[in-house]
Amino acid sequence: MPGVSEYGLDRAVREIVFLFEKGLGHFLLFGTPDRKDDRASSAYSENGIVQRAVRQIKKELPESVVFTDVCLCGYTDHGHCGVLRDGKIHNDESVALLAKTAVSHAHAGADFVAPSDMMDGRVLAIRRALDESGLQDTGILSYAAKFASAFYGPFREAAHSAPKFGDRKSHQMDPANRREALKEMETDIEEGADMIMVKPALSYLDILLEARQRFLVPIVAYNVSGEYSLIKAAAQKGWVDGKLVRDEVLLSIRRAGADIIITYFAKELALEK
Ligand code: PBG
Ligand code: ZN
Repeated sequence: MPGVSEYGLDRAVREIVFLFEKGLGHFLLFGTPDRKDDRASSAYSENGIVQRAVRQIKKELPESVVFTDVCLCGYTDHGHCGVLRDGKIHNDESVALLAKTAVSHAHAGADFVAPSDMMDGRVLAIRRALDESGLQDTGILSYAAKFASAFYGPFREAAHSAPKFGDRKSHQMDPANRREALKEMETDIEEGADMIMVKPALSYLDILLEARQRFLVPIVAYNVSGEYSLIKAAAQKGWVDGKLVRDEVLLSIRRAGADIIITYFAKELALEK
């Protein structure tokens, strides 16, 4: 995507230090490991790319707030968000590895872990695993209402995390089903999520608004890769004024009720200020 890069460890840390000085204090990390296997071992290895990055960032910037994306799809050779048994994702085995991943991120110093896998029961399992490891202070930002969306295309291409067969419809949500989204958010709060997310943002502003009215925890919206790319592409062609459209879109997400917006526009906004 224009303006977005994948970084090695040192450059990532330098970029974050630079942005912190420009006024951005919160960062969400995604890892792209050099080795993938069927158990996603690099996801929970103590020397995994995210674990090392977190340690270094928190050492250089103790005041920064570091979130880590917790999923297995970037780390499995088949690209699914969990481990497979008989060609299908095994929910509970996957949850065990997700909890292990979350604990390793938290041990490294992550302030919040952000499970994006959508397996059932993962928030409770992660909360328990963190508490048992003495990590009571690590928060959970749950990707609670995450829809099976075509807007994740550019991200999957960059992370080489598209499933090699099948899709994510067994665990990500049906875009048509509003009540299921509310149920998932309610469940995640009961299981211990400190903040809940709606993702993607734009085609789901109604869900965002309803979440804001119904729940008391902070509501996070993820303005995803496809949403960013549509604006960038049209702006590059001269079809729309990119900055005005960007601002209008982000404003609409805020108006719908997001307390926090995760967006690939963050850097350019920080630099424009
Ligand atoms: C991993 C994950 C995805 C995104 C964030 N975490 C991809 C997916 O679910 O396929 C998408 C982010 C984006 O499109 O910007 N599960
Ligand atoms: Zn995933």
